[in-house]
Formats: sequence, C-alpha cells, structure tokens
Amino acid sequence: GASSESGWLGTPIDELNRMPQCAPPFPHLRALPNHTVTVRGEFPVSYPSKFKDAWDDMSVKMPCSDKNLFPMETEEYMSYFDLTSLCFRSISNSLLQEAILTYNIAHTKKWDFTALNLLCTECLEDCEKQHLFEVVLPAMVDLALSAPSLCTMPIPLLKTRMNHSLTLSQEQIACLLANAFFCTFPRRNSRKSEYGNYPEINFYRLFEGSSMRKIEKLKTLLCYFRRVTQNRPKGLVTFTRQTLNNPPNWESSQKQLTRLHISCRGTIEDDGYGMLQVDFANRFVGGGVTGHGLVQEEIRFVINAELIVSRLFTEALEHDECLIITGTEQYSKYSGYAESYKWVQHDEDKTPSDEWQRRCTEIVAIDALKFRHYLEQFLPEKILRELNKAYCGFFRNNYKSKHLSAVATGNWGCGAFGGDTRLKALIQLMAAAEAGRDVAYFTFGDAQLMRDVHTIHSFLTDKRVTVGMLFTLLNQYSSLVCMNRHTARREESLYRFIQERVSSRTPANDEEPSGDSA
Ligand code: AR6
Repeated sequence: GASSESGWLGTPIDELNRMPQCAPPFPHLRALPNHTVTVRGEFPVSYPSKFKDAWDDMSVKMPCSDKNLFPMETEEYMSYFDLTSLCFRSISNSLLQEAILTYNIAHTKKWDFTALNLLCTECLEDCEKQHLFEVVLPAMVDLALSAPSLCTMPIPLLKTRMNHSLTLSQEQIACLLANAFFCTFPRRNSRKSEYGNYPEINFYRLFEGSSMRKIEKLKTLLCYFRRVTQNRPKGLVTFTRQTLNNPPNWESSQKQLTRLHISCRGTIEDDGYGMLQVDFANRFVGGGVTGHGLVQEEIRFVINAELIVSRLFTEALEHDECLIITGTEQYSKYSGYAESYKWVQHDEDKTPSDEWQRRCTEIVAIDALKFRHYLEQFLPEKILRELNKAYCGFFRNNYKSKHLSAVATGNWGCGAFGGDTRLKALIQLMAAAEAGRDVAYFTFGDAQLMRDVHTIHSFLTDKRVTVGMLFTLLNQYSSLVCMNRHTARREESLYRFIQERVSSRTPANDEEPSGDSA
C-alpha cells in the first residue's frame, strides 16, 4: 500500500484512468477542414495516389519538389532530388559525409561529421559497421527516395494560433525522417531563412562534435531506422496543435482538486502508459534533440523517434498553445540521463492501438518558462501563464471526465528551466483539476517532494479548497514574497503559507497581505 517506504503516496495508480479503457466511442477517421489525413483505407495507403506538390508558405517544402533546384556550373539547374539520388549511390562506400555535402555545398566548411565518424571507427564492431553501410543506410536511402510515392499530399504547416490536426502514417514519418537524416529538406539549414520560427529538422548538428551524447543519440536513432526499414510500421500518428481560446477564469473557479498518485520511483513513459504524458518541452518542440540537448524532452524524442517529425511542421509554440502527439511508438530502451544517457537496446512496444491504428500513447508538449531569477516565477503574470499553458495541454473539448486519462507528469520546468518544484506541482494540480483529470506525478527520486506534495494535496482536499481559492492564495503569496524579498525562504514556505492561511480562514483576513493570525 501507500507509504514513503513503498515509494508512493495517494491514490493507487491502477485506480487512475488510462487509454484505451477510458476512451469514449471513436468517430470514424476522416479528413475535415481542421484535420489533414494523408492516408486512406484500412491498410493505410498514401492519398492522393500521385504526388501533389505545394511550394508555398502554407506547406512543408518537400525535397522531391520540382521547384527544389540546385544551380549547376553551366548556369543550368538540376533538381535536388536527382542530385540526391546520384549522391546516395556513394553511401554504401562509406561516403555518407561526401554525399550529404554534395547537395549541401554551401555548408561544406561548417558542417562537421566527427560524431558520425567516431561512431563508425570507435564504437561499432566491424560487422555492425558493415551492416550499417550495406544494409541500413541503403534501405534508408530507398526510404528517403520514396517520398514522391509515399508523401503525396502536401503537409500543412501547423502555424501560430492554428487549431489543426495532421494524421500521417508511421511509414510516411519514417520516410520524412530518413530525409531529415540525410539533410535534404530545403530552406531548413539556416535560422535566418523563412523557417526561422520553426525547429531545426535536418540532422546535421547530430553528426558534429565528439561528445558521447551525440554517439548515444545516433545509436538510438539508427536503431529506429533499422527497425522501420526491416519492418515497415503500419500505424498512424496524429499531431494536434491546440490553442487556448477561452482561458478559465481562475479566480472564480469552484473546482476541487482531483485525485493524485505521487511516486518517487518510475518515469512518465514507463509508469504513465495510457495516460496523457507530459513532454517538458521547449517552445521549439523537441528542443535540442537534433543538437546537444539530452534531458527529458530530447530523450523522449529519440526513443519515440516519430516525435521528431513534429519539428518539420510545428511553428514555435506561443504562451497559450501546445502540441498533442498521439500514436508514437517506443523503439529503444535507455539508461541514465543527460551526460550518462546510454542507448541500451531495441524495445518492443506492446502498447495497444486505438481504432485509428494509433498506439495509445498520448504525449503533450508544453513549454514552461525559463527562470533566471528564482523569485520571478512567483509574479502573478508568470503564475497565470504557467496555469494557462498547463491547462491548454490538459483540457479536451467536449469530453466527459470519465473519458479522460490521468495526466502523467513530474517536475515540469524545474530542471533546465529552473522552476520551483513545489510551485509547479501546485500549478499542474490546479490545471488538471480545472480540466477534470487526475494526476500521476513522478518526482524522479525526490522522496521529500513526494511527501510534501502529498501532504498539501491531502490538506487542500480535506479542507475542500477550490482552485479559485488557491489562485487567490498564490497571488497573496506573490505579493508577500515580492514585498519581503529577503525573508522569503525557498521551498516549503509556499505550502506553509497556504496551510496557515487556510487554517485561519475567515472571510475578512482573506484580503490581508500577510497571515499573522495563525
Ligand atoms: N519522468 C519523470 N520525470 C523526469 C523524467 C522522466 N522520464 N526525466 C526527467 N524528469 P527537464 P525543463 C524530471 O530539465 O526544466 C529540454 O532541453 C527530472 O527531475 O528536461 O522543463 C527542453 O527542450 C528533471 O530535472 O525539463 C527544454 O528546452 C525534471 O523532470 C528544456 O529542456 C525536469 O526535466 C525544458 O526544461
């Protein structure tokens, strides 16, 4: 049962909702004005049957477009795709780098392939290297070159403030990611280009430098490519950009906190299967996944590699937006974290699929604010921003609570982004309550945090404190810490303040700035 020794407190995790058990009846999958579906039929086939090009500012510019031209010395142009096909022939002769640089000639001096070379020379056995160059890379080339027959429908860009879904097949995603690996997406190699407000998609930064992080990331991604080229996956994945059009009126909310399971062991991805799993995101989704980053978000993006394709079409998230990704598969097992991250081996994902042939893995990318000064996060406008961001990720239009899976989360915004775990835990509990979902919280080894959050949650539930009251208390705490910068202490003080205030609650002293009546 629940105890500090058993590593968890609160509601037993098996009492919380998971997909597919809690799913509402599914409508048929079909294309709608706000939902682009690039396949048709039961065994998904690409739709339309012939490649339709769209070289415009609403769609992803494809490597195989006729408009994607490479200037030749003779003042003639060659299509990049023909050029790429030519270059790819040399890949099996270990000339991957030369191939990539031929069609990315402008970057010859800047791009560096040390990590890729180190992987081949220092980390792989001879037979593994042979397999890579003779089997995996040629199969990836075929996959990349099948873009005109696989990715026939223009892929819409999910731009700022668009409420739009995009469903792709896993096979199409594999094709797009193979192109990303070979760095063939046009206009995507410079931040200053028309895609300046999009994440990087071409993988060139993954090949550079000599850090072990890059090597382990490459191993993880090559495991993905090995798997999908051996056996083309058959499922679908949906990407939904969701904007919060009507933020809740937090102050007047009468909602009570929902149930909480809190554990200092386990992870969001392992123990939160079937739940809405939070990606501790960057506003450029995937953060540093194609570069140096290797914390929660980047790890998730390499083990569930299909997540990476969201970078191709998702413009940077605004304060009131999120990206929901349903159906990705986990291809690798890992150990460690950040500097100690290691690819362990391939993973057989046993997650069941829903009626749209998507794995029941729902991940939501929400980007917390990055705080440089500890006290900044207690400013009312910052608290409001984080509440709305979390709520945007958690709420679902027209769903009853019984059909909503629990939120599986943890120290969102509290690692690289420097947030306070106790404040952020409370914010997420409030957002989940407002959205009508229970919470499974993983403290990632922090037993004290587990006890503290459990204590405040039980207290607030016992006292029937509403989300609106909590919001008011947070604002009061805010003016208190902002007035007495020097006496404000870290961590428990927020929870102590709330407990004292609630315990001494009378209508009158709710308005006063400090709680000295307790
Ligand atoms: N399950 C549960 N908790 C975890 C897990 C996991 N798998 N992994 C880490 N934690 P961080 P942020 C805990 O720093 O502060 C990326 O570059 C652990 O306690 O990844 O929101 C993004 O792209 C860890 O310290 O999230 C952004 O740029 C804490 O969660 C930036 O980092 C926070 O993880 C976001 O930083």
